[in-house]
Amino acid sequence: MIMIRPTVLAVFLLFYTATHGERYFHLGRSKGGNLGAPGGYNGEPLPAAQWFKQKLDHSSPSDQRMWKQRYFVNDSFYDFNNQGPVFLMIGGEGPADARWMIKGAWIDYAKTFKALCINLEHRYYGESHPTEDLSVKNLQYLSSSQALADLANFISAMNDKYKLNKNVRWIAFGGSYPGSLAAWLRLKYPHLVYAAVSSSGPLLAKVNFMEYYTVVVNALREKTGGEDCVTQLKIAHQQIAKYMDDNPKIVEKEFKVCKPFASASTLDIDNFYNSIADDFADLVQYNEDNRISADAKYKNLTINTVCNMLTADGSVPAYKKLAAFNSVVLDKTNQTCLDYSYDNMIKDLRNMTWPAGGRQWMYQTCTEFGFYQTSSAEVEVFGNRFGLDFYTKQCEDVFGKKYNGDFIAAAAEWTNNYYGALDIEVSRVVFVHGSVDPWHALGITKTQDNDAPAIYIKGTAHCANMYPSSADDSSDLIEARVEIQQYLAKWIGQV
Ligand SMILES: *[C@@H]1O[C@H](CO)[C@@H](O)[C@H](O)[C@H]1NC(C)=O
Ligand SMILES: *[C@@H]1O[C@H](CO)[C@@H](O)[C@H](O)[C@H]1NC(C)=O
Ligand SMILES: *[C@@H]1O[C@H](CO)[C@@H](O)[C@H](O)[C@H]1NC(C)=O
Ligand SMILES: *[C@@H]1O[C@H](CO)[C@@H](O)[C@H](O)[C@H]1NC(C)=O
Repeated sequence: MIMIRPTVLAVFLLFYTATHGERYFHLGRSKGGNLGAPGGYNGEPLPAAQWFKQKLDHSSPSDQRMWKQRYFVNDSFYDFNNQGPVFLMIGGEGPADARWMIKGAWIDYAKTFKALCINLEHRYYGESHPTEDLSVKNLQYLSSSQALADLANFISAMNDKYKLNKNVRWIAFGGSYPGSLAAWLRLKYPHLVYAAVSSSGPLLAKVNFMEYYTVVVNALREKTGGEDCVTQLKIAHQQIAKYMDDNPKIVEKEFKVCKPFASASTLDIDNFYNSIADDFADLVQYNEDNRISADAKYKNLTINTVCNMLTADGSVPAYKKLAAFNSVVLDKTNQTCLDYSYDNMIKDLRNMTWPAGGRQWMYQTCTEFGFYQTSSAEVEVFGNRFGLDFYTKQCEDVFGKKYNGDFIAAAAEWTNNYYGALDIEVSRVVFVHGSVDPWHALGITKTQDNDAPAIYIKGTAHCANMYPSSADDSSDLIEARVEIQQYLAKWIGQV
């Protein structure tokens, strides 16, 4: 069990999600944006894993080292004589999950368009292990550009393997970081990929992603229709800050911390505040989506039920109500106490043994994207204890002194130059986002170009459009799925 608390941007988890839950696309304590596993899975048979011989370093023709990359295929809808489109689900910062091969919106589209469905796991995640361990030296081959080259190489090999004629159209799908990859694949390899559905993809690499918590706070307002929930959080924060000065024992007890604050370092305390905020990040990022929940008992943990907890019963102090939510999260994640130790977190992230946990995604944030969900913009609600330095220090402490703030800033700038950030020049890509998903702040939410339209769904969270439909779906979400299907029809039918 990975004890790293989520800090987020994540993406794609298949099987792993049920046990490790959403603590994935949060990055270590740095958040990623993982996609969860689709809801509605009832033990149906799943396709077996297949393995593709992949090149380790696409940037070096003379480097002949190879490794095995995992993929899954569902060919049940495909007519090999009368070849239709190929749908490619792009793997991201978590294990590929075979359940996505039989469930989810893309499977419904595949039935309609008689598509061949393929899911390729991202290098360095799940069971796709290019190197013997995750040492910094070996991690040099972990990057979005190597992942895109994997996809290009794979597409070309599958065209041969399945004897696909050259008019067959590949359509890329992805949610969260793979949503970005879907758009970037179309950008860099337009001759291989005809169109893409890019869900919840952050296209702008930003080191200080302070907007994340602003969307979290706004989502609380949007979903509850008022200020009360946010006000209670502010009051709770003031009370906690005061007790931390005068009587920390009270906070220790209510928040069930693993060790007394008397022995805590400054970084530990920063981490404590980050943990509490993180719980809200998770709550909002995955609000009411149709995902497999590790435990049905927690299915009712939504923005509305948690805000009801915080705003109910005026006689209970706000910090105690917040602590009650913290206790529910500890239960849900099977933790007996809140471990806010900075050193324990760094120790986990330094572990170079497969399968690791947050280390790979953290490496990508330190070397490509930043995406640090700092407290800079929402100090009143979550305090000011996890600013940018708190995150860049983690990069240095985990990977070495070289990975400092200047290094990360330069890396993110290069990423934006390399892909074009929000000025990406692509056609036949639809960008899909939800108003309650903090990641929309780094994506394209307005149509600027009719060849690359945007769909902005009011009220939905991270990757909501990708999950199987459910009776609880809002009309906006239903409409978005239909609109995506219309784009697919146009692109697949277009000669
Ligand atoms: C493909 O998906 C359909 C729909 O869920 C499922 O019935 C079928 O078994 C799957 N085929 C394979 C080969 O997994
Ligand atoms: C969720 O439901 C359980 C009972 O099934 C209840 O004990 C719990 O208080 C509920 N949680 C919230 C946040 O409403
Ligand atoms: C917590 O433990 C229960 C029971 O052992 C298990 O079913 C569940 O998957 C665990 N949850 C997590 C997040 O590890
Ligand atoms: C490192 O991770 C591996 C695999 O998850 C685990 O078995 C091992 O105990 C970890 N090592 C340390 C020192 O935590």
